[in-house]
Amino acid sequence: MLEFTNRAKNVSPSLTLAITAKANQMKADGYDLISFAAGEPDFNTPQFIIDAAKQALDKGYTKYTAASGLTALKEAVCQKLKNDNGLTYSPEQIVISTGAKQCLFNALQAVAQEGDEVIIIAPYWLTYPELIKICGATPVIVETNAANGFMLSVSALKKAITDKTKAIIINTPNNPSGTLYPESVIREFAELLKEYPDIWVISDEIYEALSYDGNKHFSIACADEQIKERTILINGMSKAYAMTGWRIGYSASSTAAAKKMGAMQSHQTSNANTMAQHASIVALTKGQNFISEMRGVFESRRDALLDCFKDFKEVDCVKGGGAFYVMVNIKHLINKSYKGQKIDSALKFSQLLLENKYVAVIPCESFGAPDYVRLTYTLDIAVIKEGAKRFKDFVKEIC
Ligand SMILES: Cc1ncc(COP(=O)(O)O)c(C=O)c1O
Repeated sequence: MLEFTNRAKNVSPSLTLAITAKANQMKADGYDLISFAAGEPDFNTPQFIIDAAKQALDKGYTKYTAASGLTALKEAVCQKLKNDNGLTYSPEQIVISTGAKQCLFNALQAVAQEGDEVIIIAPYWLTYPELIKICGATPVIVETNAANGFMLSVSALKKAITDKTKAIIINTPNNPSGTLYPESVIREFAELLKEYPDIWVISDEIYEALSYDGNKHFSIACADEQIKERTILINGMSKAYAMTGWRIGYSASSTAAAKKMGAMQSHQTSNANTMAQHASIVALTKGQNFISEMRGVFESRRDALLDCFKDFKEVDCVKGGGAFYVMVNIKHLINKSYKGQKIDSALKFSQLLLENKYVAVIPCESFGAPDYVRLTYTLDIAVIKEGAKRFKDFVKEIC
């Protein structure tokens, strides 16, 4: 009999795909659709970055680069980490990959295997448990509390650590909650880690640039040298520079970890796209103004979205300090009905909202938060207001 591996069998298809596919189809069919379902900035990649890619093509940079990336890009990443985070890395500690997603894949492949446990913090990005399962390892989920903005609880984390724990993934600012961990919480976590010297930290910092309210993202690698040595810091171009389609991410780690990840990548995809790497050098060195402008726009859109729900008691929104997502608690609407149809899950809520009000949101079952839907605010404020109005009208019609 033809068989698939356990690895292939264990990976779950994305629950959100059904919603986004349907929303895309409705848009193509001409429906007046408002989508809060995106996972990327609505900004275009800035022209100076596009020009840099064109120049790279004109100069004939169309061949392979070193599998772990161009030295000049690694140097630009080191400079960024120095300037923004006060971290010192050398180019051999950087691996350039096809998006932060491949960095996460590389990192997990390097540190986790059958019999191991990897801790993730709910709500989590839906890809983490699947990548952990692809390694043959088991995801262990630590819950957080919406009442304190889904803040990381170091005591809950401690309880989840066992002899099998190989790594802990943290993600700040967080997808889907937007939660930004303050330096004090990260330092408390780092203190805990000192009791467990054999645990790796995978720190997903892809939303770093989108930190609001005057707060600055704090990387766990900054806690001290010992923690830095076992942290695999992951970041990339997608969210900060509106470059999701360019597929450039990077990791910074100990030289030993970078070698292992680079070796694995060399047999997998080889280098990340060459012209996108050239454009990324320019983005990292000249993109600061763009980032501040985009950050300001997103912050005001977040506030506008929250404002729409401020006096609407039927649902609770959890305010995040970063990224571009707001989670909305719909728990007490579950098991109620809309036009005779039972809402038995966040997925059903999202399907009915889409079909009846042409508003797309992401149900959070696969993010470890089944009582929530996620709204992305990468839309103009007028569109956000109209979408929120339709959302509220829908909720009012639920009985
Ligand atoms: C938390 C998180 N990490 C990583 C990624 C992957 O980003 P990239 O486009 O660099 O692969 C995403 C993309 O949505 C994300 O939300």
